[in-house]
Amino acid sequence: ERGGYPHFMLKEIHEQGGVCRSTLKGRISGGSVDLSGELSMDEHTMISFRAVHLIACGTSYYASLIAERIFERWTDLDVKVDIASEYRYRDSKITPDTLVVFVSQSGETADTLAAQRKARACGAYCLAVTNVQGSTLARCCDDVLLLKAGPEIGVAATKTFMGQITALYLLAMYIAKVRGTFPIERESELIDELLQIPYKIETVLEREHLIEELASKFAFSQNFLYLGRGISFPVALEGALKLKEISYIHAEAYAAGEMKHGPIALIDPNVPVVVVAPKDSLYEKTLSNIQEAKARHAPIIAVGFDGDERLASDADHVLCVPPTLEEFSPFVTVVPLQLFAYHVAKKRGCEIDKPRNLAKSVTVE
Ligand code: F6R
Repeated sequence: ERGGYPHFMLKEIHEQGGVCRSTLKGRISGGSVDLSGELSMDEHTMISFRAVHLIACGTSYYASLIAERIFERWTDLDVKVDIASEYRYRDSKITPDTLVVFVSQSGETADTLAAQRKARACGAYCLAVTNVQGSTLARCCDDVLLLKAGPEIGVAATKTFMGQITALYLLAMYIAKVRGTFPIERESELIDELLQIPYKIETVLEREHLIEELASKFAFSQNFLYLGRGISFPVALEGALKLKEISYIHAEAYAAGEMKHGPIALIDPNVPVVVVAPKDSLYEKTLSNIQEAKARHAPIIAVGFDGDERLASDADHVLCVPPTLEEFSPFVTVVPLQLFAYHVAKKRGCEIDKPRNLAKSVTVE
């Protein structure tokens, strides 16, 4: 049932092109996103929203941080993201004109369910983005947007993260379009590129051997620092979480610009720094953070676009991914980080599919 793969996690990483493709399927027609057939929220409701809150735990929270930036870019809504265990106890202003999106692979996470009860009590419109139709979350929300990832067995979430970001981009595009804030002159460029993403994910997967080689060089490091800016900051967080969960190596992720406010003190030749550096509008800034880390003799592992010679000369190692539009880089940049974590854990002889102390779904507070 592992389809010839040694672990479910690796099988699921390799399914991600397909997950993205199935999550897009049937949701784009005539060159435009259309979710009207499956969401019950009508145009009037979508236009009446003032704010959107994205609430989740763990990897689903990192998918939400990516979506936060996309909602900010394409819509005029006030966007807020929170961890469910915080949201449920704080005094956020949740109003009937707030759309609260609960992102949960399982749809059974206790804190996310409690946060949903709170939002519902405040009269907010609740939408579940989940992989499990019929889950508690799906049943309690006003609306459901499904990821089409298929069951995920590995405890560390990989393909469901891909499904979540795919679904959340579609949602942001759809709401933005209905509200008239979507950059319509870029619609065909954005949609065409989104449809190419599954192939680009598959191209990254074909380079697994290069990532495995790099993983063997660093498998016995004790600490890692992950950096990224803008939309790549949540990718850095997710890459570090994967490494922590399955290899038990201490990995911290920081917004690259925050490095000089403290974590730079950690850097020395024994702390590899993983930098997510796609060529986007913050690229130059990220390169200067690479210089700062290099000056302290940290080994630099960068994730960047094919053909980026500057990055190749500045970093010690580059994991290349096919270039894409700045909005979509997380779809490709997260994949080498998942594979890197997997191969590091494998070299260390860890129990990859069932890491210690972790449960697939956290149904207690
Ligand atoms: C990370 C991981 C966890 C889950 C978190 C939320 O690899 O699996 O951090 O992402 O427990 O779970 P769901 O999405 O089911 O609410």
